[in-house]
Amino acid sequence: MYIEKISLKNFRNYKEECISFDRNVNIITGKNGQGKTNLIEAVQILSLGKSFRTLIDAEMIRFGADFFHVKGAFFKQEEPLSVEIQYSKKEKRIKVDGAEKRKNADLLENVYTVVFSPEDLKIVAEDPEKRRKFLDRELFQLKPLYYTQLNLYKKALVNRNSVLKEERPDDGLLDVYDKVLSESGAKIILERAQFTEKLHEISAEIGARISGGKEDISVLYDPDIDPEASESIEAAIREKLQKSRARDKERRTTTAGPHLDDLKITTSGIDLRRYGSRGQQRTAALALKLAELRILKEETGEDAILLLDDVLSELDEERQKFLIRSFENSQLIITAAGVSGRMGKKLSGGSRYLVDSGKIVRNE
Ligand SMILES: Nc1ncnc2c1ncn2[C@@H]1O[C@H](COP(=O)(O)OP(=O)(O)OP(=O)(O)O)[C@@H](O)[C@H]1O
Ligand SMILES: [Mg+2]
Repeated sequence: MYIEKISLKNFRNYKEECISFDRNVNIITGKNGQGKTNLIEAVQILSLGKSFRTLIDAEMIRFGADFFHVKGAFFKQEEPLSVEIQYSKKEKRIKVDGAEKRKNADLLENVYTVVFSPEDLKIVAEDPEKRRKFLDRELFQLKPLYYTQLNLYKKALVNRNSVLKEERPDDGLLDVYDKVLSESGAKIILERAQFTEKLHEISAEIGARISGGKEDISVLYDPDIDPEASESIEAAIREKLQKSRARDKERRTTTAGPHLDDLKITTSGIDLRRYGSRGQQRTAALALKLAELRILKEETGEDAILLLDDVLSELDEERQKFLIRSFENSQLIITAAGVSGRMGKKLSGGSRYLVDSGKIVRNE
């Protein structure tokens, strides 16, 4: 699929802009702080309804304005598709082909994007939370039901934690939340396990290609609760929550569950988070992102729109080349402070834009 056009009103530092995109390659350059990432974000929110940069929608409203509106015209299987989001502090309105959608979840499965930014290069080296976010964001796109289950889980977790913070936590209430956590948690664990299996297989293959066979990358699911500890995943969670209840009361928080899951990423058996060199960690991160793109394609039949935010300059030439060669059919939207001569040649054709204080100047 690809995006043909986007119009922005009061989005971040854009007052009113309309941009047409090339089917294949789009390169957006501009000095720091001019609005390159803002543009990537505008395209990306049309796929998930939420920003990859912030949890607070209001941050995307232009300073001094009281709403933003973003509308994208896409082509999917050669059919036009329009998606728009209007957000004011009072309400959020989502429309797909003109029809109003009630919830964020109803927006999913329309537009597929994969964002790749310098932050993602740290996915292997950073805290488990980063890797959980990676899993979750990917699973949202693939399975809208996952989104619903994760929200159920998160709400129950917040409630359970606030009961645990009370002077005398009510065991009856904790039982109620344990039930919700085990039901939704079981579905979350199952999806994460299945997705990680695919991730493992595909990132191993991609990692070997990037490194010329030197790195054998392995990505394994590292769940906080062993799903096989009992007769069902649900039972495993319930039992673990019961066992840890005394400790939870002491610490006043829920100390077990999929909110503590992780991925174990190794090469030749070496834990890359702890012992990997920066280059090895980046190779693995690149393999994970490209695997994400491939899995989306296999599961949905769509080539996701690839949004590369400032990432090329962070990679050495070999990895840049690999990245550029990997997207046969995906539409690319790339931002960079500048494009080096060599890179420019590889990415010849397509459209170039210059961003200057929230205004787009089309170069060629
Ligand atoms: N809600 C908002 N309203 C108005 N301006 C905003 C808003 N949010 C961010 N900005 C402005 O947008 C600019 C940052 O835009 P963006 O992050 O897209 O920059 P960039 O071109 O990607 O820069 P860099 O090269 O440093 O990554 C800043 O000048 C910031 O003040
Ligand atoms: Mg930026």
